[in-house]
Amino acid sequence: MLNQLSPSYLEAIKREHRTIGEQAHQLEKALRETVLQGWPASSIHDLATRLTALERTLRKHFAKEEDGGFLDEAVSTAPQYRAETSRLLHEHPEILARIREMIARSTDELTANSSLSFPFTKSLEATLRQLLMHETHENALLQKAFNLDSDTI
Ligand SMILES: [Fe+2]
Ligand SMILES: [Fe+2]
Repeated sequence: MLNQLSPSYLEAIKREHRTIGEQAHQLEKALRETVLQGWPASSIHDLATRLTALERTLRKHFAKEEDGGFLDEAVSTAPQYRAETSRLLHEHPEILARIREMIARSTDELTANSSLSFPFTKSLEATLRQLLMHETHENALLQKAFNLDSDTI
């Protein structure tokens, strides 16, 4: 007999995954424009603001996933996903640390300093990629562990 997640909890997780996806894609877009414009200070400040907003969203979202227990419940429903679940949970502090590092690196020094701005671009791209992969893996886990239809998530 399969456990069931409450529909409202599942809805909240889905909604948050969509919001995080949008925030990450907007950041990728803002980063591309910043590079094209040659790192004006206003664009760097915009990146910092977006990163700070993303950090706030993720802090709440990760706490909800950890306390609300969808990952725990996935394991009790389907113990074969224990390793995958534990790996996903360990990624939370890692992703938050990377986002915070990117906030700290979003300074005016990036302007006209390609020895800083080039690695910044690469790091931010990699961080956003890791975040999007994380959320994609969670959606796949939810689907497998709770036998959800592919269009449910
Ligand atoms: Fe997560
Ligand atoms: Fe998530």
